[in-house]
Amino acid sequence: MDEKKRRSIFNHAKEWIYEAGQHIRDVIDEPLYIDTKSNPNDLVTQMDRNTEKYFLEKIKHTYPDHRLLSEEGFGDDVQSLDGTIWIVDPIDGTMNFVHQKRNFAISIGIYHEGLGEIGLIYNVMEDVLYTAMKGEGAYKNDKKLPQLNEKLTLDESIIVVNSIWACENRKINNKKIQALIQSVRGTRSYGSAALEFAFIAEGIVDGYLTMQLSPWDLAAGVILVNEVGGVTTQANGESINLLTNTTVFSSNAVINERIKKDFIELM
Ligand code: IPD
Ligand code: CA
Ligand code: CA
Ligand code: CA
Repeated sequence: MDEKKRRSIFNHAKEWIYEAGQHIRDVIDEPLYIDTKSNPNDLVTQMDRNTEKYFLEKIKHTYPDHRLLSEEGFGDDVQSLDGTIWIVDPIDGTMNFVHQKRNFAISIGIYHEGLGEIGLIYNVMEDVLYTAMKGEGAYKNDKKLPQLNEKLTLDESIIVVNSIWACENRKINNKKIQALIQSVRGTRSYGSAALEFAFIAEGIVDGYLTMQLSPWDLAAGVILVNEVGGVTTQANGESINLLTNTTVFSSNAVINERIKKDFIELM
């Protein structure tokens, strides 16, 4: 994608993400209509749906040849990465949105012929926007983020891991996850994959391991992490497939191989 076009798409995405976020803040104390999806803890609200419809309308009106891949089902049936695709999570961290009214994000990753061109993650209630464009670095609001710490050691690292993967489960050797937890300085879990990627890019956490993400959870995040020198793969080290659910391990490059080798054993 040429630079001028990319800049113009970026500017639109930025304008729309701010506008959508402003609307969410304006109505944050109004009653929510909450439904459940695959299980009683899998929540969705009218705000998730309306925000997705807002992006659908904007994208289709301005870029009729672009496609939208998004969580709540109003986008296109995307089966290939041809052309330009907006991968949007209208609210990432819906459980936080419902229970806490904070700690959720809007995530937009824009890919052209399979390559990540633009990533935006908006921490709505904090009014903090993380952005990245391919080859141009990553930003927190208007401040360029530095490359990740090359001197980081495992025992000084903070890793994001959801506690369920440290319990008995069928996907990963939980004893090794417990050993990882004991080998790092600390663990965190914020409940929004997009924010967790943004925090890696910001260098305030050093890695994120999860056995289950969808394309819209990670599309923007991998671009941001990449722009500061981080590495994102499936948990087994293979590259991410943007069209399916996937395991993910994203981190500062200096601890990436060691964690994969010593602590991640998939079942
Ligand atoms: C979820 C959040 C959560 C992650 C889940 C995602 P949603 O997204 O990112 O942190 O653990 O796997 O589904 O449903 O709130 O958009
Ligand atoms: Ca969801
Ligand atoms: Ca999500
Ligand atoms: Ca969502």
